[in-house]
Amino acid sequence: MNRTYIKDLKAAIGTDVTICGWVDVRRDHGKLIFIDFRDMTGKIQSVALPSHAEAHANASKVRSEWVVRATGTINKRSERMIAKNEENGEIELELKQLEVLNEAQTPPFDIHGDGKEINEETRLKYRYIDLRRPRGQKNIRTRHKVIKYIRDFLDTEAFTEIETPILTKSTPEGARDYVVPSRLENGHFYALPQSPQQYKQLLMVAGFEKYFQIARCFRDEDTRSDRQPEFTQLDLEMSFVQREDVMAVNEKLLIEIVATLFPEKKIQTVPFPRITYKEAMEKYGNDRPDIRTDKNDPNVLAFCWVIDFPFFEKTDEGGWTFTHNPFSAPKPEHMQGLMNKENIGEILTTQYDIVLNGFEIGGGSIRNHTPEALKTVFEIMGYSAEQIESNFGHMLRALASGTPPHGGIAWGLDRLVTLLNNETSIREVIAFAKTGEGKDLMMDAPSDISEKQMRELGIELRKKK
Ligand code: AMO
Repeated sequence: MNRTYIKDLKAAIGTDVTICGWVDVRRDHGKLIFIDFRDMTGKIQSVALPSHAEAHANASKVRSEWVVRATGTINKRSERMIAKNEENGEIELELKQLEVLNEAQTPPFDIHGDGKEINEETRLKYRYIDLRRPRGQKNIRTRHKVIKYIRDFLDTEAFTEIETPILTKSTPEGARDYVVPSRLENGHFYALPQSPQQYKQLLMVAGFEKYFQIARCFRDEDTRSDRQPEFTQLDLEMSFVQREDVMAVNEKLLIEIVATLFPEKKIQTVPFPRITYKEAMEKYGNDRPDIRTDKNDPNVLAFCWVIDFPFFEKTDEGGWTFTHNPFSAPKPEHMQGLMNKENIGEILTTQYDIVLNGFEIGGGSIRNHTPEALKTVFEIMGYSAEQIESNFGHMLRALASGTPPHGGIAWGLDRLVTLLNNETSIREVIAFAKTGEGKDLMMDAPSDISEKQMRELGIELRKKK
């Protein structure tokens, strides 16, 4: 018999069905054995009666989390047995056959609650069990819905989704790179992308005009509740646009995601308020202000844009470095100042950050699309002509090959989905998250590699001092 999903059983009263799934809970009353089954669509209570001897014998054997195929009749429950608050509370499966597909050892923890009382490292180690809990299922499925909404929306807006390399060259996004040794060129290394920044700009040079990607990014920095060594961005870039155009399409998309997928939530102010960096620092003491007027309501979403950031800040050594992104353009009225390298501390960038309830959930800018402007940024940062050529020669040549004005943004997708799910850590919305120490406890990574692998890569370990 074909498998029926548990969510469809209400329409099957009086008929025989086969379901597949897990034993959620089993209550053995001797003669009557009740088993709740669970599949990805819901739960159903079943009852094994002694009159179906084989099914009854199997029902006395199975335990929580065993995987089974069950066949039986869907009956209406008697008035007394109806559970009003349960999805399938009015029906019951009368078990006629029960086949065990896989047994399960006793789970390391209970999966019925929200799991907040369980040690997180244990949850991460047995993530494949932890994710079975309703909270894990909901968080990951909601993430899928948000991503699907984004894809459909941007497709309608004429964006093309394009994948960019993971094995690439170090990019200056301000964090430490993860590096990958080359076997064919011993002593040379790829870097994993901190973001697809340069590639997406090169796609503008290549004439795609509207690009996006659900992009995995890698940054070797200390992990926190809103930070993982690898995380996901909605990365996008557009040609022939100004700041307002990029902000408008992103604001529209965020509003639609909330209205369609989270109707219970309310956006505090539309259009999103704009706060300058200076105002934010003066009024809130940081550049990701939480502007909620009611911080107790979990359904308030207070988006705001933060704009007018300084382009450069002083380094500890007394030189200059970028505050956000070296590829950003200054505000149009500050372009002359940049080119003249005048009043460097006062140059403002086109950078815009999108902030939600006190978390920076995205940031972007209009870019320097002329080689002269980009080169000047690197000169201000004290790079020599050789350094500029070896690190950014490819970008300068591309910008000199017919490059449209362009700009874009990247959202921290994990952070957005975390807030939309009323979670407090991005680990809850990442299927296989890493610990605070950057470890994958389930796979046990990072781990040793073999002597043979080391030899091929031309690597010898040095004792850490
Ligand atoms: P930025 O570095 O600001 O910009 O990153 C964009 C957004 O990504 C999120 N984010 C992170 N999320 C989880 N873990 C991390 N370690 C982490 N680091 C950053 C934040 C942040 O706002 N290339 C530019 C974008 C552009 O200019 O278009 C960039 O990557 O929510």
